[in-house]
Amino acid sequence: MAGARKNPDSLRSARWFAPDDLRSFGHRSRMMQMGYAPEDWAGKPVIGILNTWSDMNPCHLHFRDRVEDVKRGVLQAGGLGIEIPTISVDESFTKPTSMLYRNMMAMETEETIRSHPFDGVVLMGGCDKSTPGLTMGAISAGVPFIYLPAGPMLRGNYAGRILGSGSDAWKYWDERRAGLISDEEWLGVEGGIARSYGHCMTMGTASTMTAIAEALGLCLPGASSIPAPDANHKRMSADCGRRIVDMVWEDLGPDQIVTPASVANAVVVAMATGCSTNAVVHILAMARRAGVNLTLDDLDAAGRTTPVIANIRPSGDEYLMEDFYYAGGLRALMSRLGDKLDRTAVTCSGKTLGETLEGAEVYNDDVIRPLSNPVYHEGSLAVLRGNLCPDGAVIKPAACDPRFHVHEGPALVFDSYPEMKAAIDDENLQVTPDHVLVLRNAGPQGGPGFPEWGMLPIPKALLKQGHRDMLRISDARMSGTSYGACILHVAPESFIGGPLALLRTGDIVRLDVPKRRLDMLVDDAELAARRAAWVRPEPRFARGFGYMFQRHVGQANDGCDFDYLTTGFGEPAGEPDI
Ligand code: FES
Ligand code: MG
Repeated sequence: MAGARKNPDSLRSARWFAPDDLRSFGHRSRMMQMGYAPEDWAGKPVIGILNTWSDMNPCHLHFRDRVEDVKRGVLQAGGLGIEIPTISVDESFTKPTSMLYRNMMAMETEETIRSHPFDGVVLMGGCDKSTPGLTMGAISAGVPFIYLPAGPMLRGNYAGRILGSGSDAWKYWDERRAGLISDEEWLGVEGGIARSYGHCMTMGTASTMTAIAEALGLCLPGASSIPAPDANHKRMSADCGRRIVDMVWEDLGPDQIVTPASVANAVVVAMATGCSTNAVVHILAMARRAGVNLTLDDLDAAGRTTPVIANIRPSGDEYLMEDFYYAGGLRALMSRLGDKLDRTAVTCSGKTLGETLEGAEVYNDDVIRPLSNPVYHEGSLAVLRGNLCPDGAVIKPAACDPRFHVHEGPALVFDSYPEMKAAIDDENLQVTPDHVLVLRNAGPQGGPGFPEWGMLPIPKALLKQGHRDMLRISDARMSGTSYGACILHVAPESFIGGPLALLRTGDIVRLDVPKRRLDMLVDDAELAARRAAWVRPEPRFARGFGYMFQRHVGQANDGCDFDYLTTGFGEPAGEPDI
């Protein structure tokens, strides 16, 4: 896109460094304290490189090194790259759940950009919450940015078996609970399932979210599929550095990239990948930061008409992200989606989506299927409504046993995770394969923080009989690497008085996925009596970030953003002018 190039005098950073006043004297002298000379910054794009490296984040471990590649690219293109840390929200260790901190990360990102002399930004992320957290903040900040995805780790391997992040952990854990795996084998799985830096290499939340970021036009074409240890990942990192400098001169900001067209593209791509259910929550929040009012119904409509063509676990049965890359990666997948995508959408590369897909080829038709031979014709996601979830709930029909798509059974209700955990291994638990396991008080406020508890464990008594799936309902999320007949994100959540709070053990629950219904067969008078007797639980937090979180977090169907961070809440923050 040829257009007028920005004048160096109008660079955002010039407001810090150019004026002949005492404030700017301070900024310049402090740059010189760090060893920079005026020719390093004057009239040049200053690029903030937001690095989420941490020794507690195995998915981003290589960012300590990759940032040097980004700086190399920035320098070559005539800019100055400045690394700045932001919170590294890691999925692996954060309790009670990393989701508690997604909005903290978004807020930190927005404020870090706004308060510093950056003309453009490279965001380094990849582990689940970092993609939405960083991009939500950067969209609100409004300066040109590129998202540099961490890339998936290598395929897991143990004793000749391929292991997928998360998915195989659940699978082998069930085998272990059923007494079918030795200590030695279990240790082998532990050591073999994550063999390199990089994010989870199933089509879990991380791979889904980086695919969404690329489909939105926020990553360089093809970037999200490159395995983290591949040398192409280093070259891509340097490309990000070179490209962001040009984006500054072109004044190509997120307002031109994240549009109704690119959001619609991202939704279709998410569905075609067989996306993580977490994508629902995050893409709603990301789109709305850009002023695009995406709804659950939009996602359901796309789920009905988009076939799943990425044959990647957990929706697919065999392959992992490394295979996806060798099969052509996301560009190849998008090239198969034809007129389901708006090819005129602008990307950070400066080209339209259609231009970036030119020459893309699929090298393995079993990994990236043709539309005529999908993994599933539809059903990546379905949005349910009914008297249990008036504001919606989500199920991934493609990842569960089809016999549960229409199901009726008695509820077995747990009020907390510890209560469920204690009961589930009791071999005398009164439970049948038709029962519907229910966990409540596990939503955004109740969890607290909306934890990934939604793939409730199958009771040991049923595991021993050979059962591996059953219908489960919660107001929690589940990991993108999970699978099974799990209904999630019930809204409103039970902790704030959603109807799930009124369900009792023994009530009959009815699910009908084709009709998109989820109901409890309890009459209205009885429900009214139960509501009158319901007592609101005490808030989870009496101080700190959690105290703020519980006052401002939205429900799942609105993307769980904080009310005061949503676009349209109050006047825009504007730019610092003193
Ligand atoms: Fe980081 Fe899965 S733990 S992506
Ligand atoms: Mg995950």
